[in-house]
Amino acid sequence: MGIEEMEILHTPADARSYVLKRQREGESVAVVPTMGALHDGHLSLVEIGKRECDRVAATIFVNPTQFTPHEDLDQYPRTLEQDLQRLESLGTDAVFVPEVYAMYPDGCSTSIVPPRVANRLEGQHRPEHFGGVCTIVLKLFQCLPCDVAVFGRKDYQQWRVIESMVADLNLPVKVVAGEIVRDPDGLAMSSRNRYLSDAERQSALAIPRALEHLASQVRQGEKDIALLQTNLLRSLDGGGIADSEGVDSVDYAVIVDAESLEPISELDRSAVALIAARVGATRLIDNRLIEL
Ligand code: PAF
Repeated sequence: MGIEEMEILHTPADARSYVLKRQREGESVAVVPTMGALHDGHLSLVEIGKRECDRVAATIFVNPTQFTPHEDLDQYPRTLEQDLQRLESLGTDAVFVPEVYAMYPDGCSTSIVPPRVANRLEGQHRPEHFGGVCTIVLKLFQCLPCDVAVFGRKDYQQWRVIESMVADLNLPVKVVAGEIVRDPDGLAMSSRNRYLSDAERQSALAIPRALEHLASQVRQGEKDIALLQTNLLRSLDGGGIADSEGVDSVDYAVIVDAESLEPISELDRSAVALIAARVGATRLIDNRLIEL
C-alpha cells in the first residue's frame, strides 16, 4: 500500500464529505482540534487519534471568539507550514484549516451557553472564553462529524467543559483526553511558552515544582485541602511567581473535585490541583490529577 498524501480541507463542506466518505467505507475517524503552533503535546493527541480510529484528522483554527478582549489573539503564533509538515510526517490523514469567515459567516449570531463546570476558575478570569470554545468545538463537530475527538488534559477545565457539553447535547462523539506532555525541565508544553524569555521560563518552573511538591505531600498522607492549598500558593510565591512590584500574579491555585471542579475540604475523592499564573506578560496554566 502506497503512502497517501495528507488531505488539506479548507471548507466545512469538504471537511464533512471527507469524514462521511471514510465512514461510508466503514472506517472510523478521530479529530484533534487545535489552534496550530503545534508542539509535541498536540502530536501526542494525533497519536492517540491514530490508535483510537482508522483515520485521524487535525484542525488548525485560531478561534477569535475564545479570546477575551486584550488577550493575545493578534500575537497568537501562526506557524502553518511547519504545522502541516509535522502533521504529515506523523501520518495524519487530513487537516481542516478553515478561514474565519467560513466558521463565522457574516451576520452569524448563534453561540453556545457553556455547561456549569465552565463557571468557575478560567470562566471567572476569562468570561467569554468557554462560550467561544464550546461554540467552535460544536461547529468543528458539525464540519467533521467524527467518532472520536481528542483533547489535551493540560487544558483540564476545557476537557471537562467539552465532556459536559457532549453529554448535555447528546452529541454522538467519544471524547478522549491525552496526558500532559512536559519539556525535560518540567514545564507543561504550551504554544504560549514561546513568549517566555529565558529568565521568565526559569520563574515559570515554579508551577510544575509546586505541583510536584503537592503530590509528595499527598503521598505522605496529607488530606487537609486548606493546608495543601496554602502550601501550593507558598511554593508558587517562593518560586518566583510574582511580578516586579511583588504583586501576586497567581489567578488561582486550587484543589477541587476532579469532575465537577467544585471546592472540597478533604481529600476523600479524586481531585485535581489547578494553577493559572502570569509570568511576565504570559498567562500559563497547569494541573495535576490527585487520584486516591
Ligand atoms: O485547546 C485548544 O487549542 C482550543 O481551545 C480548541 C479546543 C482547539 C478550540 O479552539
